Amino acid sequence: MRLFTTVAALRCYLDLCRRSQSYSNDLNSLEIGLVPTMGALHTGHLSLIRRARQENRSVVVTIFVNPLQFGPNEDFQQYPRTLERDKQLCEQAGVNVIFAPTAAELGIDRQHSVQVIPPTFMTSGLCGAFRPGHFEGVATIVTKLLNLVQPDRAYFGRKDAQQLAIIQRLVTDLNLPVEIVPCAIVREPDGLALSSRNQYLRAEERQQAIALDQGLSQAEKAFRSGERLSANLIQAVKKELEKVPAMKTEYVELVHPMTLAPVEVVEEAGLLAVAARLGSTRLIDNVLLRTR
Ligand code: PAJ
Repeated sequence: MRLFTTVAALRCYLDLCRRSQSYSNDLNSLEIGLVPTMGALHTGHLSLIRRARQENRSVVVTIFVNPLQFGPNEDFQQYPRTLERDKQLCEQAGVNVIFAPTAAELGIDRQHSVQVIPPTFMTSGLCGAFRPGHFEGVATIVTKLLNLVQPDRAYFGRKDAQQLAIIQRLVTDLNLPVEIVPCAIVREPDGLALSSRNQYLRAEERQQAIALDQGLSQAEKAFRSGERLSANLIQAVKKELEKVPAMKTEYVELVHPMTLAPVEVVEEAGLLAVAARLGSTRLIDNVLLRTR
């Protein structure tokens, strides 16, 4: 496994790989899978890496805590940085390249750089309403990483469903030649979706945090029994959240999974998404409701 911190070294390596592999007869030989992360890797990230490993000849993992996607009062400084451990996990998972640049190396400059602005209708609701500028920061960094690595496939978790929808839209609208591969949410045995931020939770909060999954599971059960009205499905989530007074709900919304437009009745598919705070930790989760 190689670790690069500069754009020049990464480009040079990928260029050499592409050239040497182009002499091979193996049709899959050029395939590169990209897994963008902010590090502090957990089993959720590793599931993306495993999938990329199965589907590509080379796997590139990027580790970069992107300042552009953190608001002024968010946890950028505090965000866990565990590069040594991440390296070991990547090595064990068969990753070929880690790209872990600094912000300066990527030319990140909030005031003076070109930004990629997703359509407002996709950023105004859900997390976007509570994190102004967040998805502009995500879209900008993901576009840069896709341009740098030029992968055949890039892997994103459904855990961040709004991020996934925005990236799919970005790739379509900017005609980027990459396949976006959505990956299932990985959960703890008690249902809590894995997140690098779970380590902020105190013991009691960790217990309370399962209310998100419990609410979504109740709604999913109702959906399977035929409930299609958003208001009722949302209410099923809220009922579970209300059992935990410490839980400060930011939103429970039911939207179309691709356009993120609110839906009143689920026709074919709906994304039921929730965000809440427990103490200083912000948690998100969702479930995709599909009729077929
Ligand atoms: P990060 O939070 O590190 O997540 C990296 C990828 O792992 C994302 O695609 C995310 O959806 C996925 N992921 C996280 N937890 C998961 C879980 N429990 N199950 C399945 N997948 C999970 O998302 C980001 O970083 C950043 O916004 C990034 C895309 C790297 C841009 O900076």
